[in-house]
Formats: sequence, structure tokens, C-alpha cells
Amino acid sequence: MPTSAFIHTTSELTIENGSVTWESPSNIALVKYWGKKEHQIPANPSISFTLSNCKTVTTLSYKKLSSPSDEYQFEVYLEGKRQNDFKPKIKTFFKRIEQYVPFIKAYEFKIETSNTFPHSSGIASSASGMSALALCIMSIEKEINPNLSDADFIKKTSFLARLGSGSACRSLEGDLVCWGTHKEIKGTSDLFGVKYPNEVHENFKNYQDTILLVDKGEKQVSSTVGHNLMHKHPYAENRFQQAHDNLSKLNKVFKSGDLKSFIEIVESEALTLHAMMMTSLPYFILMKPNTLEIINKIWAFRQVSGLHLCFTLDAGANVHLLYPENEKEQVLDFINSQLVGYCQNGHYICDGVGLGANLITD
Ligand code: DP6
Repeated sequence: MPTSAFIHTTSELTIENGSVTWESPSNIALVKYWGKKEHQIPANPSISFTLSNCKTVTTLSYKKLSSPSDEYQFEVYLEGKRQNDFKPKIKTFFKRIEQYVPFIKAYEFKIETSNTFPHSSGIASSASGMSALALCIMSIEKEINPNLSDADFIKKTSFLARLGSGSACRSLEGDLVCWGTHKEIKGTSDLFGVKYPNEVHENFKNYQDTILLVDKGEKQVSSTVGHNLMHKHPYAENRFQQAHDNLSKLNKVFKSGDLKSFIEIVESEALTLHAMMMTSLPYFILMKPNTLEIINKIWAFRQVSGLHLCFTLDAGANVHLLYPENEKEQVLDFINSQLVGYCQNGHYICDGVGLGANLITD
């Protein structure tokens, strides 16, 4: 599909002003996106569970300018406070999407956003934040262009969200979303995320994700710097191939419900992501001593309990604990008795798989 397919002809802009609110969740990758080409094209396919509780709520208010502006006209507020340090990222986003939604130069915007998770929790808000903003912009497009089908609305929103932050294109729908072309998964594209189209075993329904907040500080490596580390990386090609292979394996595991293989793939992906960071130039260690303590405790717990708790990591020290819903009680007991002491101020967030974004008001 050519990117030109996302340029829709717009009729005259008769809408003077309005406001729209969307909430959009975060997601947690099982096969990781790490490395990208120009125009936010991923170096390998990835797949994630959409989350339910960790989300961003964004209201976009818009007012038509008397004449289109050369600059983008917008202000951003986080939890009611002006947030000028968000502006450069949003400006870059607007610049990347302008050719697909040219009307953004004809309006002035007020972007009011809030997260259900603490901003300084070390949880990436770019996936939920950029997807929520892309949805609000697409709501304006839908007003201008009412014939846009629901399927095309989601596809173009995911396309735009990717241009804001790659992982954001996986946040619109649930419960599993793939992004990046994979030969065995129909409909996959480098340009947008698609709902995982194949059979998913009962074992994975309502899967739980408890996020242990090991380090709530600012990200040590921004995602842009991180992805760039894969450019001259000595293991890059093998890593990209491994992601394809792991997605093929997961494709089978989702059907069979084989939790043992699921754990092996997911933990290997998390450790590979960190291995890539440790073996790039410059190199980084983003895990903290408590991250390793938690991992060792999980492995010991799994051995004695026979339960199916496993972990995954993003580009940081926090640990996502993944487990089937029917093991929730024992896992929460284990967290409270043995893991909570490794979390900063004892904080953790209970989440689970969700179904994607919701329109709050139109
Ligand atoms: C480690 O989506 O934050 O979370 O496209 O530069 O905004 P940009 O990167 P971003 O990268 C996320 C990387 C990851 C793995 C993943 O979510 O797949």
C-alpha cells in the first residue's frame, strides 16, 4: 500500500471550531521494535498486548484561523499545566503528518492531556499519548470527510500515530496488535498496526501485566537515540531475523496455548533488547540491580510454584510481570511478599490486556 493512499481529498473546511476527547492505552511489546529506518519504518515486525488501565486522555479543542498559518498553532497542557517541553515532539509529529492531514495548518489547537499513571513513573507515555492525539486529529478529518469508513479511520489513525511514535501505532485496538510486515501474518504492514488476525487460545485471554516500578526517573536513553544504536550495530541483522522468527513461533503459541514456549520467547526478547543496548556503541545498561533481583526471584518462584509468571522489559529498569488471569491470586501474594521491596517506594501498577482506545466525547 503506497503512503499516498493516506492523502484524502478534503472538501472546503466549513467547520469553525469544536472539541473532541479520546482515551488511548499504552501497550507492552512481546516481540520488540528496536531499530528503525527513515520515516518511522520499523527494522523488524513487533507484536504487543494492548493494556487497559495505563492510558492517556486527550482533549483537542480547535478553532479555525482567519487564514492558514505558516507555523503550527497549538498549546499543550498536562494535568492542567502548560507544558512547553512537549511542544518540540508535537511539532515534529505535525510536520511528519501534515501532508496527510493538511487541515492542521488551518486551525489553532489546545491540547489538554492527562495520564492515568504518574508522569514520572518511568512508564512510556509516548504510545498512549501519540495515539490519543492522532485519534483526536482523525476525528476532525472524519468531520470533514464523513464517508471515511471505521476500518479506514483506524488504519489511517495508526499510520499517523506511528509517525508520532512507532509503538503508538499498536495502541488503538486490542487485545494483540502486530506492526511490521511478517510473511505468515496476513495484513501486516510496516505502515500501521493491525489487530492480530489469527486464533488466540483461551490461556491468553485477559492476560495480566503488573508493572513493578523499579526506577521512576527520566529515561536514560531516549527512544530516538536507542533506535539509532541499531544502525551500525554488529548484531543488527541477526537480531532483525530473530524478531521475524520469534513472531513465527508466537503465531503457533497463540494457537496452541503453550505457556512454556510463550515464556521462553517473551523473556528472550526482553533480554535481547537489553543485550542490544549493552553491545552497541555507545553502550548502556538500563537495568538496575533491583531489576536483576526481581528476575532471579521470578525464576525461583516459577521453579517451585510451577506457575506461568514471566517478565518483560522496555528500554528501562521497570519490570512487567506477565501471567494468566487464573494465577492472579498466587502471583499477587508473591509480589506482595517478595517483590514489593525492590520497587521504588513500594509502587507497582496492576494492569491487564485491554481492547484499545475509546471516544469519550465528540
Ligand atoms: C523498547 O515507540 O518509543 O518500547 O518510534 O522513536 O517513538 P519511537 O520509539 P518507541 O520505541 C519503543 C521501543 C520499545 C519496544 C516496543 O515497544 O516495541
